[in-house]
Amino acid sequence: MSDKTKELRMLGTLGDVSQALSGTTHMKAALTRVLELMEKYHGAVLSAVTLKNETGEIYLEATIGFNPANQQARLLIGENITAKVIDSGRHVVVPQISNEPLFASRLASRKEALKREMTFISVPIVLNRKSIGAFSMNMYFRKDRDYDRKVKFMRVVASMIAQSIKAQRLIEAERQRLLDENSSLRQELKEKYDFSNIIGNSGPMRQVYESVAQVAHTNTTVLIRGESGTGKELIAHAIHYNSLRAKKPFIKVSCAALPETLIEAELFGYEKGAFTGAHARKKGRFEMAEGGTLFLDEIGDVNLSTQVKLLRVLQEREFERLGGLETIKVNVRLIAATNKDLEQAIAEGTFREDLYYRLNVFTIFVPPLRERKPDVLLLADHFLQKYSVEHGKNIKRLSTPAIDMLSSYHWPGNVRELENCMERSVLVCDEQVLHGHHLPPSLQTASESGTVTRLSLEAAMAAFEKDIIQDALKTTRGNRARAAKLLDTTERILGYKTKKYGIDSRRFR
Ligand SMILES: Nc1ncnc2c1ncn2[C@@H]1O[C@H](COP(=O)(O)OP(=O)(O)OP(=O)(O)O)[C@@H](O)[C@H]1O
Ligand SMILES: [Mg+2]
Repeated sequence: MSDKTKELRMLGTLGDVSQALSGTTHMKAALTRVLELMEKYHGAVLSAVTLKNETGEIYLEATIGFNPANQQARLLIGENITAKVIDSGRHVVVPQISNEPLFASRLASRKEALKREMTFISVPIVLNRKSIGAFSMNMYFRKDRDYDRKVKFMRVVASMIAQSIKAQRLIEAERQRLLDENSSLRQELKEKYDFSNIIGNSGPMRQVYESVAQVAHTNTTVLIRGESGTGKELIAHAIHYNSLRAKKPFIKVSCAALPETLIEAELFGYEKGAFTGAHARKKGRFEMAEGGTLFLDEIGDVNLSTQVKLLRVLQEREFERLGGLETIKVNVRLIAATNKDLEQAIAEGTFREDLYYRLNVFTIFVPPLRERKPDVLLLADHFLQKYSVEHGKNIKRLSTPAIDMLSSYHWPGNVRELENCMERSVLVCDEQVLHGHHLPPSLQTASESGTVTRLSLEAAMAAFEKDIIQDALKTTRGNRARAAKLLDTTERILGYKTKKYGIDSRRFR
């Protein structure tokens, strides 16, 4: 073969090598393909890519021409020599391996191992100036072989392998980063809905937590009942994120928000052409929730014909898409919630009794806020912190009168109303203490007179004044002289006002 032909063959191979290494994330397969090229065009009888891992261990990443378990092959590939190549970062050429002690000492006992004289060449694989592995070949010995040219060629291949490994490691690192990010987001989500984020340790709430803990790990259908705004959705999240399905999806369907005709398409999905406008097949929420939890919110608002279909899914765990014939099996845990009186709905014929029994396996009653007064302040504080941060305010606490007002209110809208109330109050408060007058009017009237009449300017001013004085006394621990100074008034006026409002300054000591 002329030099020119050899040159062309090498260039041709390099093109193939680059193709084999590009566009694949399966390193082992790509390297095997490279070694095949060496066997086919460059006289390699045996060849291998050996890599060193972070712990310094050397292992065969890809080999061709022998079974790596085979002892003979391992001798030929020169395990000790490749280790040296990797450690020194320098290539090694052994023209006749029977003359090389590192081979010969071990080959002597195994005459059959070497039927024809072999040449061994190994070049380092260098990445970021660090030797991370070796690319080695065994060829039949030939007197006229140009070792320099062979080494140069193998070095080019080795550098291409290095680039490919680098790219793959970057991809792997990125994938790991994404996985970590994903799991930290999940953790964040989990924390968001973990028990610990449900505020309240009143007796009735503790009973709720107990029920959640009891049922979370099972696959039992759960029905959550309670007035509007009591935290039913929060409880549903807590069940899911504390269950074995936590890593699978939590899918919510708000039955009340959907018109009757749409709800079935939403729940079960549809096939292309199932109705006008169904241009492509669409998965329903049941399918989306596969392996996880489906939360049917406002179940009391579902129409009767959909109730029949839901009953079937609950019983058989299967359904068909709208316009579809294929029966789809699902593995989904159901949680339903309602603020409706289902028993009455049954009596009125708007809710199916059989569905009711299917849903009513394990029921959690979330108590209204007025039945858990001790939670009001905990929740108020929680929302105060939350919205202070959210709106960039520096509000540190609630004033005593504000606390009194919050406690004596009857909270018909439950936690949602309390949350809205606190957000509004935080918005209008520009002090470090949230006072009674920052609270919405509905609470002012309730506290002052216990009735629903509107507050006069005079009464509002009085409430405000009382509020401020109490607060100053609290700050000074009942010291009237210092409180007067704080309010820029005299002790005499303060004394008169405390008497007028019936404030006992000793209370603050
Ligand atoms: N115990 C609680 N701790 C903290 N936040 C709560 C708690 N209970 C309810 N909330 C908050 O109050 C709001 C209303 O809660 P949620 O939406 O869960 O109520 P719901 O019972 O589903 O009401 P509806 O029947 O009107 O849908 C939400 O913003 C929720 O985060
Ligand atoms: Mg809700």
